[in-house]
Amino acid sequence: MREQKTSKQRGRRRAVLVTVVVSLMVSMALPLTGYFAHDAGLALAAEDADKEAVNPRAEYWRAVRGGTEGYSAVSGQETGVLIQNGGQNWRAVRNGPVSFYGASLIIAVLLLLAAKHIVKGKDKLESRTGRTITRWSTFERVMHWYVAISFIILAITGLSLIFGKNVLIPLMGKEGFAAWAQIAKPVHDYLALPFAAGLFLMLLMWIGKNSVKSYDFEWLKSLGGAIGDGHPPAGFFNAGEKVFYWMIFLGGVAMTLSGVYLLFPNLETVRESMQFWHIIHASSGLFLIAVALGHIYLGSVGTEGVLEGMVSGEVDEGFARQHHSVWYEEVKGSAAPAEGEAAPGASSAPAT
Ligand code: HEM
Repeated sequence: MREQKTSKQRGRRRAVLVTVVVSLMVSMALPLTGYFAHDAGLALAAEDADKEAVNPRAEYWRAVRGGTEGYSAVSGQETGVLIQNGGQNWRAVRNGPVSFYGASLIIAVLLLLAAKHIVKGKDKLESRTGRTITRWSTFERVMHWYVAISFIILAITGLSLIFGKNVLIPLMGKEGFAAWAQIAKPVHDYLALPFAAGLFLMLLMWIGKNSVKSYDFEWLKSLGGAIGDGHPPAGFFNAGEKVFYWMIFLGGVAMTLSGVYLLFPNLETVRESMQFWHIIHASSGLFLIAVALGHIYLGSVGTEGVLEGMVSGEVDEGFARQHHSVWYEEVKGSAAPAEGEAAPGASSAPAT
């Protein structure tokens, strides 16, 4: 009986012990559930937050920015492409290096010409004979002035387009610049092709006279007589004029080709190629303006006796002998006439 009691008591004690241990374990483990609940809660909250932050049309806009073509009722090249990423790079190149180096080149050329004129003055005629030689036909002069005037208009309107925001708006105000830009832009566009036609006709007309001759190197070595004594030999065009001619030729091709791409965006062009051609157009335009400034100076106040040729068609024999000795000899025949004798094709009318 006693033995039975003890085994019952032992069983009860074991049950109590197990209950206490399990209770202790459960009560110790219970706080851990907080971690699980907390982690799970965070994950859920993050999921909710994500759901709130993500634009439900994000995929759509990602496709738009990636250049994926959509639908547009407007017909034309690439009209279904809403945003083209390359535009940002193009803007940075146009407003950065192209504008900066282009403006620096033009200012440097102007300063250099001003310094040359102040220090050395104009290239004077050593003698004026009063006898003249025909240098330019009427057609050549009309072509030259047509190209020159249209180039100057294109240069002024083109510079207004590229530097208007930084230079003209502070001077004219936004309204003033807007009014001017509305004139400058169509003038630039409509004049471009008539100018290009005139330019290439003029260049074609003079191409034969611009082939390289051995004496051109002599001219270049002495910089047209600026280094050393005397005047180096030169044909109808001296080597400096030939360099100018070929720069205008190559620059003219680059400007015309790129300009056509910009004028007719629906021809074959997508925005990426327009950005490329725009950079070519702006760079070649700014370069040609800088080069033309040198030509305008040397063709007017920089050289005595040169401008009257392009105005009247006639140059003084003294000018021809000084600046274009080979051509002068050609015009006069193999032997130069004695002093006071007129050259063949020369007139005794005074130069205008
Ligand atoms: C007010 C502006 C200009 C003036 C005063 C001027 C003046 C002259 C003069 C005097 C000549 C004859 C040079 C000589 O007898 O050897 C000439 C030639 C020439 N001009 Fe002009 N010019 C002007 C603008 C331009 C422009 C804008 C261009 C072209 C974009 C141009 C292209 C030429 C060419 C290709 C020649 C042939 C000789 C050379 O290559 O220098 N001119 N210019």
